[in-house]
Amino acid sequence: MESLVINGGNRLKGQIRISGAKNAALPILAASLLSPEPITVHNLPALEDVKIFVSLLRELGVSVESGTEEGQKGVVCLDAANLSSFEAPHDLVRKMRASVLVLGPLMARLGRARVSLPGGCAIGARPIDIHLKGLELMGAKYSIAGGFVEVKTRGLKGARIYLDFPSVTGTENLMMAAVLARGTSVIENAAKEPEITDLARMLNSMGARITGAGSSTLNIEGVSGLSGTEWSIIPDRIETGTYIMAAGAAGGELELIGAEAGHLESAITKLRAAGLKIECSQNAIRVRSRGRLKSVDIKTQPYPGFPTDLQAQFMVLMARAGGLSVITENIFENRFMHVAELQRLGADIKIEGRSAIIKGVKKLTGAPVAATDLRASASLVLAGLAAQGRTEITEIYHLDRGYEDMEKKLRGVGADISRITHEGGSGK
Ligand code: UD1
Repeated sequence: MESLVINGGNRLKGQIRISGAKNAALPILAASLLSPEPITVHNLPALEDVKIFVSLLRELGVSVESGTEEGQKGVVCLDAANLSSFEAPHDLVRKMRASVLVLGPLMARLGRARVSLPGGCAIGARPIDIHLKGLELMGAKYSIAGGFVEVKTRGLKGARIYLDFPSVTGTENLMMAAVLARGTSVIENAAKEPEITDLARMLNSMGARITGAGSSTLNIEGVSGLSGTEWSIIPDRIETGTYIMAAGAAGGELELIGAEAGHLESAITKLRAAGLKIECSQNAIRVRSRGRLKSVDIKTQPYPGFPTDLQAQFMVLMARAGGLSVITENIFENRFMHVAELQRLGADIKIEGRSAIIKGVKKLTGAPVAATDLRASASLVLAGLAAQGRTEITEIYHLDRGYEDMEKKLRGVGADISRITHEGGSGK
């Protein structure tokens, strides 16, 4: 078993290179299922979730070659000419809910998919009804048995689909199903996240006809086939936001190379209001933090609102800010599991329904804590950097799902952070 040990209190200074976005990489990998021609993906982050998704593609019959030579890190070539299965098995879906992203492309390519039901997860129930209702409107039939959903069609046809909620992976699945459907589809109340736009642009580079990506209405004119392509993944806005807040938690000055500030406007506005100095240029963000931050309220919202994936990290800043703040979580019903851990470091936080009320304290003190989900783990790292003394974080496999080389990147800018292996575990 591995854990992270942080001796807090060091100020951060230097540069961090931002990796490719996990949430753009997964749908882009899934899109390789749509074409019989090879797809080359660049800037793929080395993450557990990416590894799991690649295993899933292999199970479906995709041949996957990773660049191994110098300068080819993060390059992968996918060839889905000969698909041999239409099933996403339980052991992979259980490890990563985003495995459900194969549903849309399998329906488009094979007219059939069998996907283990994701079920509940640490941050809530997370159903897939929106995905299934959309496919039904496109002429598919689904049945649920033995923990699997099986979806079939004699041929998808374009449809007008209104999403009850702008689900991110729901929009991606339906967009990937619609690109090869007969006729035109319109997806209303679609998600507007930059990862949706990246996927739409990638699909268009394969010959798809999608307009409106980035707005709440997507128009998709079905085509009869898609070609191969070469695509480079956008920078990870959640990783970027996390490191901006690392500077806020520990104090100091960071330059985030390769960051795209345009994808983080709501978070940057709130962080500036809290007192961080943030300067954005075309390919980098500079952040400076001195002195105590001010308390600011946030509400998580679908993009372009404040991202739920940065809520836990923002709470760490508010835990030491000078005043009272309210953080309201509107996307997931159970996304405050980091609160109990932050309280162990001395944070003063109360939960009332969907809101957390945070009274800033002057100092946090290191303690043993356990990570409960991906973004909660990142918040504990930031809390460890901010706290006085030693913090040990266990269950850090959550962190490895979504942050490439986090401790290496933080050590490079002055943090005292290391990974240790406990007896009986395997080290990295
Ligand atoms: C994606 C992101 C995740 C992020 C989330 C919200 C990926 C791989 N993951 O997850 O990091 O936290 O967006 O920004 O991109 N819902 C339903 N029915 C459905 C689908 C969703 O009720 O069929 C609900 C969910 O329970 C949740 C809300 O809609 O309460 C948002 O979920 P959704 O946007 O689908 O999140 P994901 O796509 O799973």
